[in-house]
Amino acid sequence: MRPQSTLHMVGALVAVTLGTFSLVGCHRSRDPDRARAPATEYREPSTQPETPAELRRLRASLQALPEHVEFDQRKMELGRQLFHDTALSIDNTLSCASCHDINRGGTDRRVSSLGVHGQVGPINSPTVFNSRYNFVQFWDGRAADLRAQAAGPVANPGEMGNTWPNVVATLARSPEYVAAFRDLYPGGGLTDVNIRDAIAVYEEALVTPAPVDRFLRGDDLALNDEQREGARLFESVGCTACHSGINIGGGSFQKMGAVRDYFALRGTPLTTADAGRFNVTHRDADQHFFKVPTLRHVAETGPWFHDGHATTLEDAVRTMGAVQLGRDLEAPQVQRIAAFLRALTGPIPAYATLPPST
Ligand code: HEC
Ligand code: HEC
Repeated sequence: MRPQSTLHMVGALVAVTLGTFSLVGCHRSRDPDRARAPATEYREPSTQPETPAELRRLRASLQALPEHVEFDQRKMELGRQLFHDTALSIDNTLSCASCHDINRGGTDRRVSSLGVHGQVGPINSPTVFNSRYNFVQFWDGRAADLRAQAAGPVANPGEMGNTWPNVVATLARSPEYVAAFRDLYPGGGLTDVNIRDAIAVYEEALVTPAPVDRFLRGDDLALNDEQREGARLFESVGCTACHSGINIGGGSFQKMGAVRDYFALRGTPLTTADAGRFNVTHRDADQHFFKVPTLRHVAETGPWFHDGHATTLEDAVRTMGAVQLGRDLEAPQVQRIAAFLRALTGPIPAYATLPPST
């Protein structure tokens, strides 16, 4: 989807939802605009009192995760080992898990990540949970998929600072790795491509159905009253215009500051990372566009935004309302939406963590 056309769509959606919002409690039949609206748009609340229209629309714009995913168990275990192995970094200090801790929402919970030799990185580390469902990888979408993505951090001087030939040579000194790759990848054995494949198989297994998924499958009681109110608001104020689909995000590029200038409000100097998608396409129209992040596990992945500038989830919600929707949400609304966002965290599957070494 092209960003510009999506933005128009967002505008239209916001207009529609604002209209609906202001009508709550009115006599709809006497409203002249409402009378001109197509008949199908109006639904009498009393026909389905237990599922308000906002929640039905929410169920239509989000999609539940599968309850189980298929994967090759032995490749997943090999990938899990590699993901947690500091041998991938030049000085044996960092693994993928250093910045994507499986027990900390798949992130490092820093404003921006720390690379080898203590280098402070340019951008906040996103969660690896459910990353298979992102339409592209990285904030600026520069990797098409998980296999392409895994090539980046290893060879990035600011992250693991290594080279792929050196990684292959290092791992080749381990008889266990050599044997595992020979068995699982009879084609090439231990190669850079196969290392990245095993890591991707592991990441593809990091799928975490949450209370929201039971709710999306029809169980109204999977969310408590506050979360359900938050879900209604999330839909009615327009968050679903961008955070939609199976990953509640992860499906398009959108401007940070679609309605109000986020970077002016932030008040700190612009960085290269702030340019977002522009850094890939060098088109002015892509300035400050980012992949809409998944909101799955979002309660665990603070500080928030590409710059780690939001220090509480409530902060992030308030800012989104302001800069993406032009709405100054009230404190109780922010609190309810944040409560809903906390229902997007699912339990970590037991196989996701490395078993203690024996
Ligand atoms: C030094 C910290 C660090 C290390 C080590 C690291 N990452 Fe990351 N990872 C990041 C940061 C920061 C980003 C976001 C970078 C960007 O978008 O420009 C990221 C992005 C990602 C993404 C994209 C997620 C999304 O939503 O777009 C995936 C997947 C990922 N990393 C997996 C890995 C794997 C696999 C490894 C090991 C081979 C690894 N990372 C090593 C910090 C790290
Ligand atoms: C116009 C599209 C759009 C709308 C509407 C929108 N968002 Fe976002 N959202 C984004 C983008 C893009 C980002 C990433 C921005 C960044 O990091 O600079 C984001 C980031 C977030 C984050 C931080 C995630 C993280 O991992 O750091 C949260 C939380 C969030 N949005 C919640 C909401 C809520 C709640 C609403 C409704 C009040 C909302 N968003 C409306 C596009 C949107």
